[in-house]
Amino acid sequence: MKDQVRALREDFDRELKAAGDASALQALRDRYLGRKAGAITALMKALGALGPAERRVAGQELNELKTHVESGLDAARDRAASDSTAQRLARERLDITLPGRRPPHGRRHPLTAAREDLEDIFLAMGYEIFDGPEVEDDYHCFEALNMPADHPARDMQDTFYLAEGGLLLRTHTSTGQIRYMLSNPHPPDVRIICPGKVYRRDDDITHSPMFQQIEGLVVGKGITLGDLKGTIEAFLHALFGAQFPVRFRPSYFPYTEPSVEVDLGCVVCGGKGCRVCKQTGWLEIMGSGMVHPAVFEAVNARLGRVVYDPEEVTGFAFGLGIERVAMVRHGIDNIRLFYENDLRFLEQFPG
Ligand code: DAH
Repeated sequence: MKDQVRALREDFDRELKAAGDASALQALRDRYLGRKAGAITALMKALGALGPAERRVAGQELNELKTHVESGLDAARDRAASDSTAQRLARERLDITLPGRRPPHGRRHPLTAAREDLEDIFLAMGYEIFDGPEVEDDYHCFEALNMPADHPARDMQDTFYLAEGGLLLRTHTSTGQIRYMLSNPHPPDVRIICPGKVYRRDDDITHSPMFQQIEGLVVGKGITLGDLKGTIEAFLHALFGAQFPVRFRPSYFPYTEPSVEVDLGCVVCGGKGCRVCKQTGWLEIMGSGMVHPAVFEAVNARLGRVVYDPEEVTGFAFGLGIERVAMVRHGIDNIRLFYENDLRFLEQFPG
């Protein structure tokens, strides 16, 4: 028995060293201490066949071996558990002294900023914002604006015609004038702006086939050219600063009479002459004029009654390009930059 116990102990010590993980340790425990097939259990059972003196000595040796095996297994189990905790801690190590990650902050696109700044100025002056469709018909885009089919002014705004239904992409937001007066919410008073996309067969460094405009229309009793000049001057000064002079030049648009072209003292060179103002000291910024009586008459004809009587009411209208405002504002010379959405460009603006 003594030899068997010693051999078993040596086997166990060797196997314990080789046991790498919890399941190997459990297998070892079963093999030595298992109730049915355990090697120590089997020797315990064999004790009964020995004589009393021999049995006492062998029993003591077996008990010692059992204690040795149990404590060896327990210690190995504890070691395995603390090893895996240490490994996990190492793996999940978190450096709480690192600075946090800030999500990038978005901002307004320079065209959105220009449009909203324009809108804010007119909202503060009591204007309403009116929205119209980009797919239009000939009537709202040209006809009602005193540009019949053979009118030469149409050539300046050649557009994209849809194949069916006589539809086209609007060439200007002046369509909003007609649509608003026809919708006729509180006649004959009108004080609106219509921001939106417009389309033309134009394509060069300062023109894009799609761009944005803001139209304005004011109608009422006793509206004069003086109101037009005062409003536009107040608006341009609010947008660019009161230090820049505003100049009105005679011009021609079919839907206004008289018509004016509005220039702003160059915001880049202050009027001395530079590349942006083509050495003139002035920037062409918008078209405007007193609403032509033919426009009121066209609306009345559609409505079937006289709502905007040209003998009773007058009005002024204006239109300007949002890209143009943003280009002048930021000294940008290529309109494409607005549409490429390159963050290196967009991040240069305060939004
Ligand atoms: N519709 C013109 C354009 O697209 C701009 C314009 C000029 C609008 C004079 C007006 C106006 O309302 O009175 O170039």
